[in-house]
Amino acid sequence: MDKIAILCSGGDVSGMNPALKRFVEYAYAKGMQPFFVYNGYEGLIDDTIQEAHYEDVAGIITRGGTKIRSARSERFKEASHRAIAAKNLQNRGITKLIVLGGDGSFRGMERFHNETGISFCGIPATIDNDINGTDYCLGVDTALNVIKNAIDSIRDTASSFRRAFVIETMGRNCGYLALVSAITSGAEVCLIPEIPINIHEYKGCFESQIRKGRDYFIAIVSEALQNSQEIAQWFQEELHFESRVSILGHIQRGGNPSVYDRLMAYQFVTYGIDTLLEGNNNSVVCYTKSHFNFKSIAEVALNTYRLDEELLNLGRKQFAPSHCQR
Ligand code: F6P
Repeated sequence: MDKIAILCSGGDVSGMNPALKRFVEYAYAKGMQPFFVYNGYEGLIDDTIQEAHYEDVAGIITRGGTKIRSARSERFKEASHRAIAAKNLQNRGITKLIVLGGDGSFRGMERFHNETGISFCGIPATIDNDINGTDYCLGVDTALNVIKNAIDSIRDTASSFRRAFVIETMGRNCGYLALVSAITSGAEVCLIPEIPINIHEYKGCFESQIRKGRDYFIAIVSEALQNSQEIAQWFQEELHFESRVSILGHIQRGGNPSVYDRLMAYQFVTYGIDTLLEGNNNSVVCYTKSHFNFKSIAEVALNTYRLDEELLNLGRKQFAPSHCQR
């Protein structure tokens, strides 16, 4: 019986549990024995690898996070630890591995594959949506919905209290979460690394809006810029508008997986298992222009992700200080 394992690496996302459920069900359907590697690459090294059964995945489709836990492993960067990891898989006869994670996780896997010949398929999973070669990473839709709910709630209190709220989103170096959230929540300001804007350029327009009765501001700021406090201070000092900073933090990584993420989890895993069975042994399942496709790790992991130009243009138009309605 062919043996296949799955692990989660890097920041967890909502959608990993639905992916694990599909993995177990589809592996059995294809006549394979599925295994879980607990604790990401750390678990490969420490041999926390266990057979996976239907009972293990019953009911987990509704849960955020990952039942088999995730980790960021420093040790896996060292060849000596990768050799131990390979032995642990080989001792059990596991020849195929699916990794849910980001590009850093895939880079580690490419080395591992070259050294050991173990077949690998990557599934992009990060709320940052910053993996080159795919338009969508598992977990992004749920994170966006969590952010949307948070901004809607903050707007209620912001307008009741006549305050400016600077809301900081995650995303590491990528402004995707902040940009989409700012557009879809009707924010007044969106600050991300990909669209440089000097907050001072809004001054005249915002003063005019305040004179006409505006009683709150919502500014969405990407964590990459590390300037949320500064922006809040600007509202306070330049506009004499009381301000607060709300750092959304890790709530963005949790929550009940959205319908879209459940569906994407099922599709990513199905394509992943199918491609491994077809003998494709070193690839990442990508989703571009509404279609699934496969790319080499080199193509995905060695290039930097760039935000979609059409989305950026929309952001540039919506948040250009020159378009601010006085
Ligand atoms: O990569 C996912 C992510 O949530 C980033 O958006 C964020 O910068 C980082 O992980 C936070 O990492 P940690 O969970 O280690 O604090």
